Amino acid sequence: MLQLEDINHVVYCHPDLDVIERFLTDFGLVVAQRTEQHLYMRGAGSLPYVYVAERAERASFGAIAFAVKGMADLEQASRLPGASRIEALEGPGGGQRVSLTDPAGRRIDLVHGIEPVQPLSIRPGLTHNTAIEKRRLGVAQRPPKGPAQVLRIGHAAIGVRDLHTNLEWYTRTLGLLPSDLVVEGGKDNPVAAFLRINRGSEWTDHHTIALFTADEDRIHHASFEVQDFDAQCQGHHWMVAQGWSPFWGVGRHLLGSQIFDYWLDPSGNIIEHFTDGDQYNQHSPLGYTASCDSSLYQWGPQMSVENFLGGVCEIERNARR
Ligand SMILES: [Fe+2]
Repeated sequence: MLQLEDINHVVYCHPDLDVIERFLTDFGLVVAQRTEQHLYMRGAGSLPYVYVAERAERASFGAIAFAVKGMADLEQASRLPGASRIEALEGPGGGQRVSLTDPAGRRIDLVHGIEPVQPLSIRPGLTHNTAIEKRRLGVAQRPPKGPAQVLRIGHAAIGVRDLHTNLEWYTRTLGLLPSDLVVEGGKDNPVAAFLRINRGSEWTDHHTIALFTADEDRIHHASFEVQDFDAQCQGHHWMVAQGWSPFWGVGRHLLGSQIFDYWLDPSGNIIEHFTDGDQYNQHSPLGYTASCDSSLYQWGPQMSVENFLGGVCEIERNARR
């Protein structure tokens, strides 16, 4: 079984790198390297990039990349059916890659050996006074205005026509573990699956990949972690002030518990800020939830499963009312 460390980056194709650079900078990512064909954007963590924009005539999705533990994993992956050879990565930090194709035809890259970089300085998490517990005494609360600084990439969510086959591939080939299944009619009929990295007793995000049953095989969103709720809300106001289009948020999901905030990028892709997600390990039980609108969120602007998965944003919904 392949040993995955974490999600590493996503690759999207865009017709205009200047526009996507402006959007991603307002979203809280930082330019790591720009060439004629590629834009590498980093978060504040030690990865040299977490988002790659490739110049292309038409917007499309490129790949989801996971870091594997060692070269042995890349060698093992290169022997899988349809896998590429081990190839050198072009981006900052070098490293190597094997490309796989999931059952929906999506490129999944496994990467290793990318040189880490010095983390950027990060605003510390805020100290909150609750009604009962006062932990901040004699100190003012002044989080800075501006983009929500992105610390890391957290997960990607993908729509698939054949959930069963994809669920089997992501769990058997990549070794992901289901944290929650959304079901219709009974436990043996999942329509969505939230999958995490298998880290044994170590804690990890509730999901690194989310699969949803959809009419077509397509990326739904990529998600990036910010420091805390204030960063997210400051970031929301910053994005609105720059004229970008909100998709859904701010709210709190049910499965994974993240506070979410979704945006539409200039090519029409959905991209998410999240904070305060659940941590799972080998002792966390597999959950089952009936599919309904309330399986999406605990609070936030009104949204249906149909509109969320269909990519219908708040602005469009309001216009239809
Ligand atoms: Fe998400």
